[in-house]
Amino acid sequence: MKDILQELEERRAGARLGGGQARIDAQHSKGKLTARERIELLLDEGSFEEYDMFVTHRCTDFGMEQSKPRGDGVVTGWGTINGRMVYVFSQDFTVLGGSVSETHAAKICKIMDMAVQNGAPVIGINDSGGARIQEGVSSLAAYGEVFKRNILASGVVPQISLIMGPCAGGAVYSPAMTDFIFMVKDSSYMFVTGPDVVKTVTNEVVSAEELGGASTHTKKSSVADGAFENDVEALNEVRRLVDFLPLNNREKPPVRPFFDDPARVEMSLDTLVPDNPNMPYDMKELILKVADEGDFYEIQEDFAKNIITGFIRLEGQSVGVVANQPMVLAGCLDIDSSRKAARFVRFCDAFEIPILTFVDVPGFLPGTTQEYNGVIKHGAKLLFAYGEATVPKVTVITRKAYGGAYVVMASKHLQGDINYAWPTSEIAVMGAKGATEILYRSELNDPEKIAGRVKDYEDRFANPFVAAERGFIDEVIQPHSTRRRVARAFAALRGKKLTNPWKKHDNIPL
Ligand code: HXC
Repeated sequence: MKDILQELEERRAGARLGGGQARIDAQHSKGKLTARERIELLLDEGSFEEYDMFVTHRCTDFGMEQSKPRGDGVVTGWGTINGRMVYVFSQDFTVLGGSVSETHAAKICKIMDMAVQNGAPVIGINDSGGARIQEGVSSLAAYGEVFKRNILASGVVPQISLIMGPCAGGAVYSPAMTDFIFMVKDSSYMFVTGPDVVKTVTNEVVSAEELGGASTHTKKSSVADGAFENDVEALNEVRRLVDFLPLNNREKPPVRPFFDDPARVEMSLDTLVPDNPNMPYDMKELILKVADEGDFYEIQEDFAKNIITGFIRLEGQSVGVVANQPMVLAGCLDIDSSRKAARFVRFCDAFEIPILTFVDVPGFLPGTTQEYNGVIKHGAKLLFAYGEATVPKVTVITRKAYGGAYVVMASKHLQGDINYAWPTSEIAVMGAKGATEILYRSELNDPEKIAGRVKDYEDRFANPFVAAERGFIDEVIQPHSTRRRVARAFAALRGKKLTNPWKKHDNIPL
């Protein structure tokens, strides 16, 4: 009996070594942790339950039968994050570059199936050269099985991807179908084809960093939702994100203890909006002053900064925030900001996270670049996402809410529940100057007359009261009481039930 126990321990120790000490050292020398070290940091101490430690590949081509590392390049199982269950897979780059074989994929599929059945998020730690080249079409088929599960799990359990090494081919398409992707600066890359293939096919010379580093994907492509300095920070931040999310689409997000008075008054907000309507101000100040304990988890911080998206808590409950940022492009909507916010709104709606929208938007960005690249269709994504969302929606207009952008930004007309406006709001078809120039074109050569017309238009429309008279705004509120009003609004909406007409699925303009 003792011998058998001893043998089990030896087998386990062999599996834990992955591709061997030399390769572990090489991994460390690149500033990367191993697959197992990452799991240890991600999960609560001692909570990891591993499965399939003894799985080996079945490939007999290219001499592969000579080496069969136990676990086949991926560590899988479940554990807890602050006591709440998550499933996890962590690819082991020390074993054949973390490449995905038939059996490696089967291990991932097994825990994804369990996650969907048991209603818990899947966190994938990706560090992989993609499909295992020696296995040919078998590894492609295996990837297909993972993709299928990503798709079927979408909107059922949250899926979070950490990119912690060079990820190519299938290793980027699986994360691309998950809800959030986080990268590590300087040690992680994502590309469909690497720099060598790019050079062969297009003659372009580009470094791995430029082609698919964290900066590229957080600032240019928006493939990634955030990037962190190192493995430790990335894993800690994913723990923080999980605390905002429900375990699945049938559960409410967790309620955390809070130590911040929901009725807290912030007098400084009364002077946040400058007297000059063309002066910017930082919308993040409002978000931080409204949130419990000023805690804000921002998503896509470095992309389309004219809109802000992220999670806060109000009375301990998770709330998704979408806010125009007047500091960037005057807070206008454009292709990038519409796409960014639409995806965020859809995530919140899929997982029953209420949405708080702060509006200061002068309209859609005009221009040929925008039109040629399809701002009509991309802008419609946000319109569509807000309109179909059935979660509680509370909106506060702080200043401008002009034209189509007014309707888009969680207005009453798109199933907005509670719509507030600050006294500084201007809710109109467009700004006074633009409106006057169209209405009184024949008077344009008379500056005095036009100035009078602008003043008339401002007096009539540059305020929240015309909308309030019609009930499009439920109440004009004092800026300093925003936290209290918004917290009470969400409290009143806790029992909200709204169902859209039955359909197989919608046809959001992709
Ligand atoms: C088998 C692989 C592998 C793979 C890496 N390795 N990728 N083995 N299949 N896909 C092995 C290497 O041979 C090497 O083994 C070890 O992993 C470490 O790799 P290195 O190249 O030494 O590391 P590095 O210099 O850091 O480069 C990492 C890399 C590069 C950028 C990931 O290895 C690479 O370009 N790999 C191929 C990427 C790729 O084209 N994958 C196929 C994608 S097709 P030794 O024993 O020498 O140490 C795909 C389709 C899926 O995924 C379906 C999509 C729809």
